[in-house]
Amino acid sequence: MKGIILAGGGGTRLRPLTGSLSKQLLPVYDKPMIYYPLSVLMLAGIREILVISSTEHIDMFRLMLGDGSRIGVDISYEAQPEPGGIAQALTIGARHIGDSPVALILGDNIFHGPGFSSVLQGSIRHLDGCVLFGYPVADPRRYGVGEIDSEGRLLSLEEKPAQPRSNLAVTGLYLYDNDVVDIAGSIQPSARGELEITEVNRVYMEQKRAQLIELGHGFAWLDMGTHDSLLQAGQYVQLLGQRQGVRIACVEEIALHMGFIDADALHELGRELGTSAYGAYLTEVASRAPEAV
Ligand code: DAU
Repeated sequence: MKGIILAGGGGTRLRPLTGSLSKQLLPVYDKPMIYYPLSVLMLAGIREILVISSTEHIDMFRLMLGDGSRIGVDISYEAQPEPGGIAQALTIGARHIGDSPVALILGDNIFHGPGFSSVLQGSIRHLDGCVLFGYPVADPRRYGVGEIDSEGRLLSLEEKPAQPRSNLAVTGLYLYDNDVVDIAGSIQPSARGELEITEVNRVYMEQKRAQLIELGHGFAWLDMGTHDSLLQAGQYVQLLGQRQGVRIACVEEIALHMGFIDADALHELGRELGTSAYGAYLTEVASRAPEAV
């Protein structure tokens, strides 16, 4: 399974924060926003990852994440010259996808909850068509909205409906088989001129090959499109860190946990981060690991 993180867009609702910076590089408490979706792909066991951002910002991602080898993954980069829609990530990423299945995740989404890694790995093992993840929200009109039967099969799908048929928002994480390359290549731009991901998902739904897994109670899904939601996400990460001593989306720790790097490599990453609390955390995790020196 290949991975794609879509980290472009104008970030217009976050101005002036995004005046010269990409939204997905903004800090969410202790780390840049893109670490959160990157951690999801890593927890799914995905190691070949394409980052897509605007022509203006793509080099900043390259500078920050490099080729990924420090955390045991392979990261490549492509530019999206204009924000032509979320589904465009699948046509820009066609070469990267090759003949594999693919997980696409939006660069501004946080997923955090018990057992998520096993849910992802299980969904990937049994993938036939597409798997979407639904999350109950108070105001579904802001999202793609899915309606499901008792087995989780999609019955209807609408983008930002005025009168939603359910309270299940379709989150920004999409698992697809390889047919998605042809499907994304065949859809037409919507009235607002974008290749809509909801149209791609609708094709799978019509083929009765779309499943929507509801992320239940105790699960957190946050998207960070506004000043308030950005601050709330940071506070959520801070609160869990302080109360439980966990660092959400610590990609270096996840790399160790997934067996992508060993404890010595993690120790070195901690040392490089010097005196920051984040660096000290990595060093501590490395020294607790069984194979640590
Ligand atoms: O967050 C989940 C929602 O994301 C879904 O429920 C919706 O079905 C889906 O359409 C999308 O809705 P948004 O209103 O959040 O889409 P937005 O245009 O804001 O794009 C989401 C992210 O993707 C944002 O961080 C910018 C980035 N993006 C977007 C477009 C259209 C790109 O990098 N390139 C693009 O061309």
